Amino acid sequence: MERLRVGVLISGRGSNLQALIEAATNPEYPAEIRLVISNRADAGGLERAARAGIARRVIADHNRERFAAEAHHALRGAGIQLVALAGFMRILDTGFVESWRDRLVNIHPSLLPAFPGLHPQRQALAAGVRFSGCTVHFVRPEIDTGPIIGQAVVPVMPDDDEPALSTRILAAEHRLYPLAVRLFAEGRLKVGGGRVEIAGAAMQNVALFNPAAG
Ligand code: GRF
Repeated sequence: MERLRVGVLISGRGSNLQALIEAATNPEYPAEIRLVISNRADAGGLERAARAGIARRVIADHNRERFAAEAHHALRGAGIQLVALAGFMRILDTGFVESWRDRLVNIHPSLLPAFPGLHPQRQALAAGVRFSGCTVHFVRPEIDTGPIIGQAVVPVMPDDDEPALSTRILAAEHRLYPLAVRLFAEGRLKVGGGRVEIAGAAMQNVALFNPAAG
């Protein structure tokens, strides 16, 4: 089986990168991480890539266009077919986003379109929502927008602080990202009209209540 060649862009610890690496250790998983690009030399995720024997590149981001050009070149050189942003903390050049249109995905720790931008978990706590979660979506030039591939929902607990909620959401991220990449790799995602259709998606018809009872 030809596996989908994925490039991952990171800026930090890379726990979502790790989740993708681990998913790909299963030879039946239809994608593999072939290149990791970081805009920071001290990103912990680079170590994770090294341990997994994955090619790494550090590209300085002083200049947005130059970063985009170098990243694009490296991704093309590695034959990358899907680019996954995983804690990549820079706004990407619009030309880059357009040239990878529908082949560029991001994970965000909220139920978009709620709480885009920085500190979504803090925003969720401030808003008093009873559920939050994470979203994997195709990237469009405007930050944290784009057709939604998948979401996972977690409850917000009465005594949650930002770290507690972030940890709960992160555990869901680590399951959602490999699932979304798998669906892409299997050719099951069709983008149209700002929405994503998923061929043969397994659905759960459940309602969750928070509080669960009075
Ligand atoms: C995750 O919460 C991700 O959703 C957000 O940044 C964080 C990155 O964490 N975009 P990690 O580097 O994958 O551990």
